[in-house]
Amino acid sequence: MSEPRKILVTSALPYANGSIHLGHMLEYIQTDMWVRFQKHRGNQCIYVCADDAHGSAIMLRAEKEGITPEQLIDNVKAEHSADFADFLVDFDNFHSTHSDENRELSSLIYTRLRDAGHIATRSITQYFDPEKQMFLADRFIKGTCPKCGTEDQYGDNCEKCGATYAPTDLKDPKSAISGATPVLKESQHFFFKLPDFDAMLKSWTRSGTLQDAVANKIAEWLDAGLQQWDISRDAPYFGFEIPGEPGKYFYVWLDAPIGYMASFKNLCARRPDLDFDAYWAKDAKTELYHFIGKDIINFHALFWPAMLEGAGFRKPNAINVHGYLTVNGQKMSKSRGTFIKARTYLDNLSPEYLRYYYAAKLGRGVDDLDLNLEDFVQKVNSDLIGKVVNIASRCAGFIHKGNAGVLVAGNAAPELTDAFLAAAPSIADAYETRDFARAMREIMGLADRANAYIAEKAPWSLAKQEGKQDEVQAVCALGINLFRQLVIFLKPVLPLLAADAEAFLNVAPLTWNDHQTLLSNHQLNPFQALMTRIDPVKVQAMTDASKEDLTASQTSPAPQGNGELVKEPLAAEIDFGAFEAVDLRVALILKAEHVEGADKLLRLTLDIGDEQRNVFSGIKSAYPNPAELEGRLTMMIANLKPRKMRFGISEGMVMAAGPGGEEIYLLSPDSGAKPGQRIK
Ligand code: MSP
Ligand code: ZN
Repeated sequence: MSEPRKILVTSALPYANGSIHLGHMLEYIQTDMWVRFQKHRGNQCIYVCADDAHGSAIMLRAEKEGITPEQLIDNVKAEHSADFADFLVDFDNFHSTHSDENRELSSLIYTRLRDAGHIATRSITQYFDPEKQMFLADRFIKGTCPKCGTEDQYGDNCEKCGATYAPTDLKDPKSAISGATPVLKESQHFFFKLPDFDAMLKSWTRSGTLQDAVANKIAEWLDAGLQQWDISRDAPYFGFEIPGEPGKYFYVWLDAPIGYMASFKNLCARRPDLDFDAYWAKDAKTELYHFIGKDIINFHALFWPAMLEGAGFRKPNAINVHGYLTVNGQKMSKSRGTFIKARTYLDNLSPEYLRYYYAAKLGRGVDDLDLNLEDFVQKVNSDLIGKVVNIASRCAGFIHKGNAGVLVAGNAAPELTDAFLAAAPSIADAYETRDFARAMREIMGLADRANAYIAEKAPWSLAKQEGKQDEVQAVCALGINLFRQLVIFLKPVLPLLAADAEAFLNVAPLTWNDHQTLLSNHQLNPFQALMTRIDPVKVQAMTDASKEDLTASQTSPAPQGNGELVKEPLAAEIDFGAFEAVDLRVALILKAEHVEGADKLLRLTLDIGDEQRNVFSGIKSAYPNPAELEGRLTMMIANLKPRKMRFGISEGMVMAAGPGGEEIYLLSPDSGAKPGQRIK
């Protein structure tokens, strides 16, 4: 046997200003399954994480709630920890970036970078809120687009015309925090000289550390040329003060990844067997992997390795990037009840259903993953209950009744157990390369074979025949052994099922290598239902609970319709040419917002592939919370002559049905349609 590997694994540190939702859980479940697989195989694998506790968003939210940032992050940490534990995400340590270890390590890394000449300082001019007495990040400034004159545009780009600009180019700027008119103010900032690491990054990002798609994206950034990175923020800020620079704080993204080291260091204090330097020194022989979502690639694949290199630490072996979660084919939405918090899920459903579903759909790439709630119910019920658990429940009764719960010795179908044995290396390889979907497919293929064997032997009919009792016992003993193999293969995904199965099988905790042996002459414990089917009512309860209380915020007038179908006479017949002249397109709603001074209209920003359209639509009465439309696909007439309205120019129409009032139903294509596709 080769030496066990020593591996340190992290997931991105969740922000301490909000609850964990099922999108986040994709990452923590993915990482946890990989870590559990490594432990199952006998490797030493340490999984650390922490809350990302710094930044102005957290400072402002605490202020709003009338508590200190420290109180806020403590409350959130307790909530996050419980959510992760209940989803069976088994961190070796869950720490906080607002910790002594992180303060020390951040100072150390910064001073090393500074002393090596990688920090620059210069004065920059920024908007300052004279009322709040603070500098304003781009997202806290609103104003009128300098190019097209659209009001109420955030920060540095116009959602109407797509222009990008400096916040200082906005006309009539306002602070989004206080509403005050900001003033320009100069201040000294600190920059990390990322271009110093250009050559290192060019080779490191091409050395197998990144998935191809990620490496290609990074190559674009590298080719465009690296910029210095602004790592300081002025007081007031919730974070760490920069050593020797009173009133200057580290930008949250400077100390956030250092939080990985800090969490590990905090763990080392409790675990004498772990040595910090063995994992972080430049010559460390251990392995280090970061699991992250695709939105934070630049921080992990550019800034972070450069910081580590510059400060004399080791770099990660790989950054494992996953895509985004959609629910029922669309961005998670509060009004549809698909913005599902971890806790809301747990109040209704078992964590293992979701762990299995994510595993079944997670490949090694960065594609988005869709949680289709109908498919979720169907897949989990058919695979886990219909295929895996079913084997045990079909066989256990005969063994208890006919042989006092003892598995007979022998192997009734060696070709079947050989097939299971032969499949193991490929399943292990799928886990190792994070191709969980392939691992699940191969395991379910084995489950199908086991079920086919039992169906063919039909112990329930053998049991009724004279002289076939030995055969019943032989078939069922094999069935239970095959079930045990499946549980071994599934254990990283389904640790609770595995624990319950171990109790039923009357065995010590199973490890990967146990798949090489069979139980014979072995006493079982009584069989208890190992897992129940998902009840679709529970899924409905979960989405209902996730829906924002829309009725409370509804301000629209009484509906015009009464739910009955109002028949409209058919319009006069047209020829095909007239139809063809109408250019209908699939449109993605990028933005949907109220129009000041208009009580019926919403302003929609639509993406139709190559261009964006601004459309005013009289659907506000049905969509009082327009943000719920964002991310949704609809259909538009794309060649309607632009119409000048009081609020701006409307460049097309979206299509909806219904009599009006609350009963307006925006049309959507089936999922899979792409913005810009012509509707024919
Ligand atoms: N605090 C930063 C990470 C700092 S790491 C040094 C952050 N926090 S986050 O809470 O916004 O996101 C945490 C992780 O969850 C990120 O990897 C992010 O990509 C992932 N996800 C957040 N929403 C997600 C989906 N809807 N789908 C999949 N992953 C998602 O970023
Ligand atoms: Zn504009």
